[in-house]
Amino acid sequence: MEKQIAVIRGDGIGPEIVEQALRVMDAVAEKYGHTFSYVEADMGGVAIDRWGEALPAAELEKCMTSDSVLLGAVGGPKWDGMPGDKRPEKGLLALRSAMGLYSNNRPARLWPQLAAASPLKPEIVAKGIDFIVVRELIGGVYFGEHRTEEADGELKATDVMSYAEHEIERIGRIAFETAGKRRKKVTSIDKANVLDTSRLWRKVMHRLAQEYPEIQYSDMLVDNAAMQIAKDPSQFDVVVTENMFGDILSDEASMITGSIGMIPSSSLGEGSRGLYEPIHGSAPDIAGQNKANPIGTILAAAMMLKYSFDMDEEAEAVEAAVSRVLDQGLRTGDMMAEGCTLVSCSEMGDAILKAL
Ligand code: IPM
Ligand code: MG
Repeated sequence: MEKQIAVIRGDGIGPEIVEQALRVMDAVAEKYGHTFSYVEADMGGVAIDRWGEALPAAELEKCMTSDSVLLGAVGGPKWDGMPGDKRPEKGLLALRSAMGLYSNNRPARLWPQLAAASPLKPEIVAKGIDFIVVRELIGGVYFGEHRTEEADGELKATDVMSYAEHEIERIGRIAFETAGKRRKKVTSIDKANVLDTSRLWRKVMHRLAQEYPEIQYSDMLVDNAAMQIAKDPSQFDVVVTENMFGDILSDEASMITGSIGMIPSSSLGEGSRGLYEPIHGSAPDIAGQNKANPIGTILAAAMMLKYSFDMDEEAEAVEAAVSRVLDQGLRTGDMMAEGCTLVSCSEMGDAILKAL
């Protein structure tokens, strides 16, 4: 197959980790007889520096006309002082929205080799961690009105959170369909004891649950969910939630699996074109030092192979290569443990290529 991929290296460690993922993609292409071509696109801080805005129209166009998009990470202290609508993160939000990517899928799965790196007690970890956070990605408070004004001699800030039924229904369907291919359990997370958006969320989810009788459905309040993820993560299969709750809970979920550096994500909408990225940020403190963990991005590339290109075998080969390298005891700093060998970002890439 021939595929064109828009590549957004981004800021901080973005360029280093994307480089390793592209090496893996090239190796997959060679091994399985595909042709992958890459179109470099600027987004985030680099785009602000070069073009004066986080997501220039021409860069967005490259993403819209490619078969899929691979992203490293965006943001950094250099742009922290910018007003909200001029920040690197704004580029990412605009990209998700313009591409219509309402469904963000973040697997929280414990690699057995990394069990010791989990901050949870061994007896909790032993019960297994393997769930997916299905996060609504282009609605809610992220995309409501944001404003700061003077009122009665002080500043007042407002962020509007709203959801329409169709936005809830389409993400709910993704969750039920995903659960159907897994352990058939959906936990919908909301704050229905306080928020109207959550009460509507719950109503729509209950309606959908009727359509999927084979799926075991339950609701959970978000504060309780934060506790349950730490207390007994084995109870979760598919977790579905709104944008901001999903942002927060997916970081918590990644941490209990040992390292946020390991977790990829896919963002999809109606077609097969998706945006694939690790869930971690741009880690400016270690940028340019060849220390970052490239595995989250490499696994994001594997998700692209699977979900956008229907290349299941290729995706599994990449995952198996990652697993083999972990078996060999190779670790980047974020997941280093006693008795293991500390490797750099590019050495981790070398090892995965060799295993592939
Ligand atoms: C994420 C990130 C983004 C988000 C930021 C960078 C805007 O934290 O992908 O989880 O909040 O969605
Ligand atoms: Mg986040």
